[in-house]
Amino acid sequence: MIQFILNERLIQTEVSPGMTLLDFIRYEKHLTGTKIGCREGDCGACTILVGDFLNDEINYSSVTSCLMAIGNAHGKHIVTIEGLNIEGLNAVQNAFAEEGATQCGFCTPGFIVSLCGLSFKDSQSFSDAIDAMNGNICRCTGYKSIERAGEKVAEIFTKRGSSDKIDFAVNNKIIPAYFQNISAWLKKLQSEIKREIFTEAPEVILSGGTDIYVQQHDTIDEKQISFISGRKLSNLIERNGEYCYISAAATVTDIANSKIIQKTFPELSHYIKLVSSTQIRNMATLAGNFVNASPIGDFSIFFLALDASIVLTDGNSEREIPLRNFYLGYKILDKRPGEHILKIKFRLSEDELFNFEKVSKRTNLDIASVNSAIHLKMDEQDIVEASISAGGVGPVPKFLEKTSAFLSGKKVSASLIDSAIKIADDEISPISDARGTEEYKRLLLSQLIKAHFIKLFPNLPLQKFS
Ligand SMILES: Cc1cc2nc3c(=O)[nH]c(=O)nc-3n(C[C@H](O)[C@H](O)[C@H](O)COP(=O)(O)OP(=O)(O)OC[C@H]3O[C@@H](n4cnc5c(N)ncnc54)[C@H](O)[C@@H]3O)c2cc1C
Ligand code: FES
Ligand code: FES
Repeated sequence: MIQFILNERLIQTEVSPGMTLLDFIRYEKHLTGTKIGCREGDCGACTILVGDFLNDEINYSSVTSCLMAIGNAHGKHIVTIEGLNIEGLNAVQNAFAEEGATQCGFCTPGFIVSLCGLSFKDSQSFSDAIDAMNGNICRCTGYKSIERAGEKVAEIFTKRGSSDKIDFAVNNKIIPAYFQNISAWLKKLQSEIKREIFTEAPEVILSGGTDIYVQQHDTIDEKQISFISGRKLSNLIERNGEYCYISAAATVTDIANSKIIQKTFPELSHYIKLVSSTQIRNMATLAGNFVNASPIGDFSIFFLALDASIVLTDGNSEREIPLRNFYLGYKILDKRPGEHILKIKFRLSEDELFNFEKVSKRTNLDIASVNSAIHLKMDEQDIVEASISAGGVGPVPKFLEKTSAFLSGKKVSASLIDSAIKIADDEISPISDARGTEEYKRLLLSQLIKAHFIKLFPNLPLQKFS
């Protein structure tokens, strides 16, 4: 039985665990404020909040309910737009009304839910308010009035100081008072249930669902699913000596918030903003990105350059393989039947150089035309060891083996980079598709390789690049 709190009510249901939360909310519970737009995670009309404990404090994340399995709601607090009602308008709804930030109103519940979610964040500046709404699309009002509403909401939070997050949001009419009782209620619920839903001989392993539900929307709820995200929201990312271990259940947001990862990648917040939207990042896992095996998967490219390994298990034994060896052909993986990824392992190296670049048609909420990452171990101006990867240039996320070997052991110079670009061009096999012609993708990769070196070696004479 799946059990969770929906707004102010305990839900105990035996519906198929693969049913989307969106369908459950609308068709089983008739809460129709959560809208159906694209059903592919793109529009944000179906945004809800999901509450769970993070290091003993309740934390809420916005997600798109069209891509979330109800099985992933087990043991959590789910909040729809109806669960944010107070008498009259809440402060966020009020800001939208005052700024004329709604016209047909179809997108408005999604925007309001995303902004109310700011209540639970550590930082709530205007730019945080904009980020909170970056997965919500409005097709009729125009974004300026929505931005002004976001500014008004951020203004309220400037007065929070050291007050308790939930008390402050309740006292300022951003969320209703019942939120003050949820933490105790959820703790009790979690102590009474088994969190993980594993299925013997599953047909599908499901993490965030952000790939699976787009690809198999109509069939997935008929399948036997193993949910591997029922987890304790701590110890997801750990350092042990020179290695970092990331649980397969860690989401992109978990990685973005990890102090361990931030320390190693000072540009992390910039890279993360290039990947999907806030709602999708709150659901998407690294393991899902690796196994989906899209040739342009951002995290596959990121971790290929770091020479990460993955630890696979069939429940009885474990084996570790380099991510570089995981991809055997288009969507063909070195993954045996019954195996799933347990964790990701890579060497942490704060004094080495790393850069990630991505070109897509839109900056946000878009997959790459071509992406690339580079990792360099340096001795002064000499490259001791180079690892470079590229996506969108072949059937798999590609580790550029020959280019990496060529760069290793050489002194950085403009002519070295020109030669490396020629070698990279020889070892890729892009095809023309909706994301660009073969020629364009070749050009993009050469530009991204230059961009890596421009970022990492700002004093290199640019004019010497051919
Ligand atoms: C609107 C939108 C925008 C997106 N933007 C981007 C983007 O900018 N960049 C990008 O790279 N991707 C993007 N994606 C794709 C997707 O979000 C990522 O690939 C994500 O990392 C997938 O993770 P998940 O946990 O949701 O995977 P799921 O959908 O749960 O699973 C994906 C695949 O991995 C398998 N799987 C999941 N976990 C495991 C495990 N532990 N062991 C073995 N197999 C497993 C599943 O069986 C399935 O085959 C986007 C998706 C959407 C809907
Ligand atoms: S319906 Fe568009 S994101 Fe869910
Ligand atoms: S108000 Fe109509 S889509 Fe946003």
